[in-house]
Amino acid sequence: MTENHKEYCIVPLHQRPDLTQDCCTLLNSEWPRSDTARLKSLNVSCDEFPTCLILIDKEDRVLGHCKISLIPRLRHSCLVQSVIIDFQCRSQGLGSRLLRGAEEYVTKKGIKNVYLITKGQEVFYLKNGYKTCDPFKAYGINDVVYSTAAFTKAKLKEKSMQCSGPPPPPMPNFQMPKFFDFSSIAHRTHMVKKLSL
Ligand SMILES: CC(C)(COP(=O)(O)OP(=O)(O)OC[C@H]1O[C@@H](n2cnc3c(N)ncnc32)[C@H](O)[C@@H]1OP(=O)(O)O)[C@@H](O)C(=O)NCCC(=O)NCCS
Repeated sequence: MTENHKEYCIVPLHQRPDLTQDCCTLLNSEWPRSDTARLKSLNVSCDEFPTCLILIDKEDRVLGHCKISLIPRLRHSCLVQSVIIDFQCRSQGLGSRLLRGAEEYVTKKGIKNVYLITKGQEVFYLKNGYKTCDPFKAYGINDVVYSTAAFTKAKLKEKSMQCSGPPPPPMPNFQMPKFFDFSSIAHRTHMVKKLSL
């Protein structure tokens, strides 16, 4: 292990509850939310998932975070969310280190596939071995339904059989609001990495 490796470590947040507020501040610096809501989502961290991992330096500064949740309908699979590195420490390889740490952590728990959804950080994940995949649907924190092409096809077929009959008439005078921001739902890239044993 190099000196550089010794400077940082990755630990489950629930093993360092004293750093929860710092982690909250880090997340809110990128995605502002009330501390109450943020702390609530951080305090669920546990050994059996969801698990929040933090990357800390030797002075116990919280420089990175990611949250890992199980995907109930996909065996041996997890969803990684809220991956963040402190603004001042980016582009130094810490994001990649955090991902590797998360992958090692989940491998030990029997996880074989790591899924994520991103908008704008595709290159970072591609460089870390993730590949784009079929869209899957995440309800709430950890419910992913449409995961593979075959499953999507089967689901769509099931839906079309349920919805047989003429289509409903158009709504009178309906116009899409001009301010609707399609980019908020478009351009979300679904990605997966199959972990090697
Ligand atoms: C995305 C993020 C975690 C990356 O962390 P980082 O520590 O800067 O990443 P690394 O230094 O490990 O970068 C690894 C590689 O990805 C590249 N990379 C990182 N972010 C990139 C980006 N936004 N666009 C293009 N390439 C990027 C780096 O250049 C590096 O390439 P190299 O190995 O050829 O030098 C960090 O930028 C961040 O916290 N962003 C804000 C929060 C966010 O958007 N999170 C993602 C939610 S899906």
